[in-house]
Amino acid sequence: MTNHIFTTFDKIKDRNAKEIYLKQRGKVIWLTGLSGSGKTTLASMLEKRLFEFNYFCQILDGDNVRSGINKNLRFTEEDRLENIRRIAEVSKLFMNCGIILICSFISPTNEMRQLARDIIGDNDFLEVFINTPLEVCEQRDPKGLYKKARAGEIKNFTGISSPFEKPQNPFLEVDNTNPELEQTVKYMLLKIMPEIRFDPTTNL
Ligand code: ADX
Repeated sequence: MTNHIFTTFDKIKDRNAKEIYLKQRGKVIWLTGLSGSGKTTLASMLEKRLFEFNYFCQILDGDNVRSGINKNLRFTEEDRLENIRRIAEVSKLFMNCGIILICSFISPTNEMRQLARDIIGDNDFLEVFINTPLEVCEQRDPKGLYKKARAGEIKNFTGISSPFEKPQNPFLEVDNTNPELEQTVKYMLLKIMPEIRFDPTTNL
């Protein structure tokens, strides 16, 4: 099918040159987990620590993205899939500039995470499962949404009236019931650093 679209991706300065410039490897760190599991908190702590180590990151987060580029999307299965598709495409653009993305989205199903992986590429997609049990998320309920979902005021709420499928083979799984968040972030950094580290002797 011809759609009269002429991409110029081949004329854009290549990713490797930009990674050399930034002295880091572009990657997408994809945090998945229930609402209230601690994704946003961990994402910002991770960004802060990485910045201290001179890594240049960009956070993309559910509530923020849904108040801007994805403000027309709701929480049906179809809209969530479109939410994730757009985020993955945007992440890929950043990543091709050598930037490290920290994406924080519930992304509740295997299909959604697989779509993101397919768009971003297997090699660059680091799936991190923030594994906080539903009971803990519901008890924390930082935005009061679980209460509303239980009362029937919010439809299709993940974990209550909409499914969350646990990732089967994540790059990293984090038990986020540990109140020592700094320890959790340290553990994440240990696994993530080798993936984004740049070797100036070989430019690899
Ligand atoms: S996703 O399922 O499409 O990946 P996303 O991460 O963008 O979700 O947005 C989740 C955030 O939207 C939650 O943290 C919560 O604040 C808010 N929200 C509003 N309605 C719902 C709902 N029905 N299910 C889950 N989260 C919701």
